[in-house]
Amino acid sequence: FRYIRNLWRVTYLSVLAAVGYTTYTVWEGNNPPEQFEPDPSKKTLVILGTGWGSVSLLKNLDTENYNVVVVSPRNYFLFTPLLPSCTTGTIEHRSIMEPIRNILRHKKAKVQYYEAECTKIDYEKKVVYAKDDSEIKGDTMETQIPFDMLVVGVGAENATFGIPGVREHACFLKEVGDAQKIRKRIMDCVETATFKDQPPEEIKRLLHMVVVGGGPTGVEFAGELQDFFQEDLLKWVPQIKEDFHVTLVEALPNVLPMFSKQLIEYTESSFKEEHIDIRTKTMVKNVTDKYIEAEVQQPGGTKQVEKIPYGLLVWATGNALRSVVKDLMSQIPAQAKARRGLEVNEYLVVNGTENIWGVGDCAVANYAPTAQVAAQEGAFLARLFNTMAKTDAIEDELRELSAKQATTSGDDRNAVLNEIRERQKQLRRIKQIGPFQYSHQGSLAYIGAEKAVADVSWFSGNIATGGTLTYLFWKSAYLSMCFSARNRVLVAFDWTKAKFFGRDVSRE
Ligand code: FAD
Ligand code: NAI
Repeated sequence: FRYIRNLWRVTYLSVLAAVGYTTYTVWEGNNPPEQFEPDPSKKTLVILGTGWGSVSLLKNLDTENYNVVVVSPRNYFLFTPLLPSCTTGTIEHRSIMEPIRNILRHKKAKVQYYEAECTKIDYEKKVVYAKDDSEIKGDTMETQIPFDMLVVGVGAENATFGIPGVREHACFLKEVGDAQKIRKRIMDCVETATFKDQPPEEIKRLLHMVVVGGGPTGVEFAGELQDFFQEDLLKWVPQIKEDFHVTLVEALPNVLPMFSKQLIEYTESSFKEEHIDIRTKTMVKNVTDKYIEAEVQQPGGTKQVEKIPYGLLVWATGNALRSVVKDLMSQIPAQAKARRGLEVNEYLVVNGTENIWGVGDCAVANYAPTAQVAAQEGAFLARLFNTMAKTDAIEDELRELSAKQATTSGDDRNAVLNEIRERQKQLRRIKQIGPFQYSHQGSLAYIGAEKAVADVSWFSGNIATGGTLTYLFWKSAYLSMCFSARNRVLVAFDWTKAKFFGRDVSRE
């Protein structure tokens, strides 16, 4: 009886704490403190991008130390790990978006935001060129923004390796617009396949959903799509039962190369159970509007070209450099040998420069291009910049104290000398900031049918696990990692809604 009473108390207190926390975060979100204007004599820090790297920097930066200017064509932060769920309507896209204006209005000192694309960085002149690429244009569409310090966090674009037809016919999965396009196309394929008198071969083609790239993006999307088919489409459009088919095409001998062997095997066998076809050792070479041409490696080692018809083609073959990054690299001799992105040192300073830093997917710091890395790099830069500002302030004070010491004598001079010694000690302590060190928390991926795989770091070891419990862990981990309490509530609500009412199959 005492056990039940204690359990009840713990539950009661936990609920109370959760309600209290939510009420406080909602109240705090709606009542940010008054912001003050930045000091024009301070250095101008320009931040390019509003992704994982840049937003993590902004979140942790003491903005009162700089004149901060943010330039990005996307006026929101996107929680990419849940983007594959938006392609089928499991999660609504707005639930994983956080307006940049909302993030910025919670900073102590005002931050200037321009919705624009940086078209060029002039390293010598210390200027970035920004262009308004939105639909509504004013009289001014292009401008220049001078900087003292610059952080490049523009991410990467989709790699196509110059394969003909990819840009024209395939859908990518990087931005909200991509997920919306895929969601629309899935339903378009289904409705067109069920059009009166559609020939059987054409029905098969239209309902063949091909995903190219067996990295985590391709695997997660294939899993989500098969879930959509099993849980909802089959109920509403049962006539597609025999023809709807998901195929994952991968050039390498296996999918998810960054996961341990055991989890690769688990994923492949789980896909088999879910009736998702995996075509490994199959490299796509050409894309037309109705089929892909792929080079398939045969067991004997010979290669054969095969035509694979498709209705929907999703292209997820990794990252490529953005043109603005390529252009910057071409201006810096120390970057001449860089291929995969801006080469940075252990303090994330772009090699060959003094006042440009690189974060996230556009920089090469010997880590995988993941959100985890970008977020840690952004937080590190914030610490570095906060420290640099404190150092500058103490150095100014030291200069003043040294001048004062020269004009004073006796006890006053001793007092000034003591103060100088104190400031020097403070300076040494602050300057002790070490280089960036990435701490890998593990890799997680959803593989469909309420299963996930996880390679998680545990103390000094590693745990590789897959299944339904891992799926619950995946769900709770990503829910807790959502940017804001608002995002968390919306995502939880979307999951509940999809469970009870199914996903929405209407085509917008
Ligand atoms: P991004 O987050 O891509 O942000 C780049 C920013 O720069 C954007 O705001 C963009 O609008 C802006 N920008 C672009 N061009 C310009 C320009 N010319 N001028 C100014 N701004 C510009 N990683 C994980 O660790 N775990 C996951 O579960 C995971 N899931 C993913 C799922 C999907 C579908 C995808 C696509 C990626 C996933 N990733 C995941 C990878 C992760 O999203 C990236 O590594 C991460 O977004 C990189 O952060 P970033 O800040 O470098 O770039
Ligand atoms: P990726 O680079 O991880 O995988 C792309 C795959 O496409 C590779 O396996 C490659 O062999 C294959 N490929 C390339 N060209 C091909 C062709 N012509 N034909 C067939 N296959 C071809 O790319 P992805 O999945 O987009 O991920 C990008 C980054 O984002 C990675 O660093 C990844 O770790 C990260 N990410 C992490 C997630 C997670 O942790 N859950 C989810 C999604 C992305």
